[in-house]
Amino acid sequence: MLITIPELLTPEEVAWCRSRLASAAWVDGQTTAGPISAVVKNNRQLDPTSSEATEVGQVVLEALHRNPVFLSAALPLRILPPMFNAYRGGEHFGIHVDNAIRNAPGSATRIRTDVSTTVFFSDPDEYEGGALTVETPFGVQTAKLPAGHAIVYPSTSLHEVTPVTEGERIASFFWTQSMIRDEGERALLFDLDQVIQDLRERHGVEDPQALRLSFVYHNLVRRWAET
Ligand code: NI
Repeated sequence: MLITIPELLTPEEVAWCRSRLASAAWVDGQTTAGPISAVVKNNRQLDPTSSEATEVGQVVLEALHRNPVFLSAALPLRILPPMFNAYRGGEHFGIHVDNAIRNAPGSATRIRTDVSTTVFFSDPDEYEGGALTVETPFGVQTAKLPAGHAIVYPSTSLHEVTPVTEGERIASFFWTQSMIRDEGERALLFDLDQVIQDLRERHGVEDPQALRLSFVYHNLVRRWAET
């Protein structure tokens, strides 16, 4: 399931992040590719230890922690520091699956990649191509969203970024280990939470049906969550 998060970042945050990213030193994406993805990977990335990556990454992380849709969709246990990539002049990232386990940079902590997120920093009319396409049980789904919007999808998916033939596409991408390992359970909890929020919006926070459903929600989280 692909879940869109509109306006994860405010227009002011997008503008600030874009100006920081514009002055950053981009390096060949091959330097961080594993042996399999190196074959299909053709893009540029920011050095994760650069001040631009750290500072813009912090803005993204703060936005995630205040966003109810992201928290409900990912149910994060740990979020790896956001990384950044850029595509132009035919650059692309062919179809692949991301590594299951990744090390948090500079630490011995390993995380299981359950949820992948892309945050767009370029608007769709600034480049041709460059769609994120994800294979799902219901066919291939495509995302190419306005700057500041994000897309969340299961890291178990095969996915690609199609060639950027005009302009430039800049985005942030990162992985989350979820408290809910199974993507089917995670999707059910997301749907249930959306219904609860909708009931509360329409009938007030003390709506008895919302209360019963939140009893079910929290007890399912108790059964399924790893913390
Ligand atoms: Ni990938």
